[in-house]
Amino acid sequence: SAIYLKDYKVPPFLIDKTELTFDLDETTTIVTSRLHMRRNPAFGKSTAPLILDGGEEVKLIGVAMDDYELPPEEYRISEDKLIITATADEFVLTCETLIEPQNNTRLEGLYRSSSMFCTQCEAEGFRHITYYLDRPDVMSVFTTTIIADEARYPVMLSNGNEVERGKTDEGKTVVVWHDPFPKPAYLFALVAGNLAVKNDVFITQSQREIKLQIFTESHNIDKVDYAMEALKRSMRWDEVTYGREYDLDIFMIVAVDDFNMGAMENKGLNIFNSSCLLASPETTTDDTYLRVEAIVAHEYFHNWSGNRVTCRDWFQLSLKEGFTVFRDQTFSADMHSETVKRVEDVSFLKTAQFAEDAGPMAHPVRPASFIEISNFYTLTVYEKGAEIVRMIHTLLGAEKFRAGSDLYFDRHDGQAVTCDDFVAAMQDASGVDLSQFKRWYSQAGTPVVTVTDSYEESTGTYRLIMKQHTPATPGQPTKLPLHIPVRVGLLSQQGGALSAQVNGVAAEDHVLHLKANEQEFVFTGLTSRPVPSLLRSFSAPVKLRYEYSAKDLLLLLSADSDGFNRWSASQQLAVNELTLLINQAIKGDELSIESQLIQGFKALLSDAALDPAMVALILALPSQAYLSELADPIYPAAIKQARQYLKAQLANALSADFERVYREHKIHGEYQATAEDIAHRSLKNIALSYWVETGDELAQQELVTQFQTANNMTDQFSALSIAVHSQHPKAAELLAAFYEQWQSEPLVVNKWLMLSASQEQENALATVKGLLEHPAFDLKNPNKVRSVLGGFGQSVSGFHKADGSGYQFLADQIILLNKRNPQIASRLCTPLTRWKKLQPELSVKMKAELERILAENLSKDVYEVVSKSLA
Ligand code: ARG
Ligand code: ZN
Repeated sequence: SAIYLKDYKVPPFLIDKTELTFDLDETTTIVTSRLHMRRNPAFGKSTAPLILDGGEEVKLIGVAMDDYELPPEEYRISEDKLIITATADEFVLTCETLIEPQNNTRLEGLYRSSSMFCTQCEAEGFRHITYYLDRPDVMSVFTTTIIADEARYPVMLSNGNEVERGKTDEGKTVVVWHDPFPKPAYLFALVAGNLAVKNDVFITQSQREIKLQIFTESHNIDKVDYAMEALKRSMRWDEVTYGREYDLDIFMIVAVDDFNMGAMENKGLNIFNSSCLLASPETTTDDTYLRVEAIVAHEYFHNWSGNRVTCRDWFQLSLKEGFTVFRDQTFSADMHSETVKRVEDVSFLKTAQFAEDAGPMAHPVRPASFIEISNFYTLTVYEKGAEIVRMIHTLLGAEKFRAGSDLYFDRHDGQAVTCDDFVAAMQDASGVDLSQFKRWYSQAGTPVVTVTDSYEESTGTYRLIMKQHTPATPGQPTKLPLHIPVRVGLLSQQGGALSAQVNGVAAEDHVLHLKANEQEFVFTGLTSRPVPSLLRSFSAPVKLRYEYSAKDLLLLLSADSDGFNRWSASQQLAVNELTLLINQAIKGDELSIESQLIQGFKALLSDAALDPAMVALILALPSQAYLSELADPIYPAAIKQARQYLKAQLANALSADFERVYREHKIHGEYQATAEDIAHRSLKNIALSYWVETGDELAQQELVTQFQTANNMTDQFSALSIAVHSQHPKAAELLAAFYEQWQSEPLVVNKWLMLSASQEQENALATVKGLLEHPAFDLKNPNKVRSVLGGFGQSVSGFHKADGSGYQFLADQIILLNKRNPQIASRLCTPLTRWKKLQPELSVKMKAELERILAENLSKDVYEVVSKSLA
């Protein structure tokens, strides 16, 4: 049953202090809690019973109030709640509970990963540890005592500072941690294990010395140097950019192998999926290096945007996630290239978030209701949420935005607040009216902005007419107009930047405020018809419609001063051509096109002044997933065929250029994860992928040489992926060699699993079934499940097999994981939620699988996604 934002009430009770004792053991763990509670004055006078949250698997041993042991008739347990009818106004509640972390397959609460104990409490995992008021507006000061066998668990960690260490009478070790900052239970963490540590130090801007520690299993400790440096860069950046300094004396990160998500910002003790923390040149690709840096930064930034100021309730999740994603995006842009980072983020948003917004799970950035909050850790809450914060930045300008964030942190430090509070701080500090803008939080769906224009020769006046429309989404049939910042520049027909006046202000770049359903913007002071560069740097998360000619797009591609829009123009050109080809493929016609991209690419490949990373991004054709988002209905095989055809055309026409660029951008010397080197590698490797596409034997030989001699994973894995996806004659041989070489490195094996599962081949389904039986596979490990099933989802011939057996296979895996790990099972449903947009023959088969899943006894997680998809 659903929970609604409109039903929010402050908690009837508060917990000022939380004292926890964990007696850790291989078979049973005993948790004792002492909760210093009182009735919440803000709730009003009340005799409401005390209702604590708990998981069904939590076994209550005993409960006492002010040391009076409650007899069974004075409390009751109803499913997952502990209810105590009569309470004083202020009391200490003691609960003793028993849990079995070794049997916790959901990976929420306290569980085992390899030989260690670890926790994941966001959003509602703490209730799987003990009975509690498990909601973010109950903030408490935690003291945590850990008791364990020193030999097996020499490292015992929790939030805050270690304040005591000793022995029990039986000789077990006792460690006490105290966190002075009040926090909700979702930020609680505990780790115990035999772990190696890397130590470092950070001196804050006010000269405080912070101890930094990264813990891993001993065989991984040689792979944390990059994360440590990234952490220090993040700490400095937050001081300089937001004036935020770290607050405790110690900051710890722990890597664990079994983790549902990427990482978690627990106060002073971040816990990471090892795939988002470990890095070494030999085993880690450039993409992953950048990802590690971004996630380390993201979790660190949460210390202020999330921990010091947290969320009142889970509907406000984007308050911390949207803001923190915006912060980590800006950080990465500052560390590397702003334009490259923007292109990557927007490309991801337009592919995956737009698809979510157009599907059955579409929801506002601040949802109005949910059945299971874990299902709302979405691209909409994270990525579109970050776009909202970015638009506020655009509307206010950097200086006022900083004043707004200062006010927000200052005003709400130590509080649990709402998205409205965030916007109010931004508005109060800047004087900018954000009242209409706030609709971005409550309206779901991607707005479509349609632009037409006209030019009046006699007066040198250029007009843009903009219309906005947001399509209906589940539960929201009609929408109000949004306040959309549209950044626009004008180019002459020769490509020069034009200065024009809007409302008396002359500039080369204007932010237009589209607020009505239809609005006209007038540019004066021109001498000839301009070419508009619209939505520069993707100033709003909308779908832009404007009838650009191929000539206009080539002009923007070669001459726009906005680097983002140069990429955008190339994408539009490619999308136009691919759409034509896709339609030919659907009709069963022979594919043919006179591609305009050839001349555009040719110019790029010979312009040494360009950033090679941007050239690489422009050369990458729109993905299968992005083209699927644009299509309605989706013909997966036709899209695949069109992409292959266009790629081959370009490769054959520009073969010599690709070979030359491939050779020019080879790096000699040691691997470095710098923007510059990453750029050269990305261009070199995409050039190789085109060159190989020609079938040239020399190219195929070069690929094998690169695979065999590379001194880093980026080059080795690129060669392997290109071999696999271009049906290289040696693809199978190289895949086998790769596994042979890396079988003892689980993170590399995961990449191998994914690539193997994504192959386009007649027997793709048999291959993926084989992978599930492979010794390297483990159903208990979310990374492995994601690699194999996520990879399989990319194989058009496997997943979209005409007889529906690919969908059936995925549904079987979802049913298998439904009870065992509901969060992972629910995530696996995503590709099936697109059934309505698929070509009719496939659509019915996909729908049938959803119905088959729905007939099972489902977890809340899977039930919500599947039932909403069929609604
Ligand atoms: N707060 C974490 C982050 O954004 C994600 C936690 C996700 N947990 C979950 N159960 N969905 O870094
Ligand atoms: Zn986050």
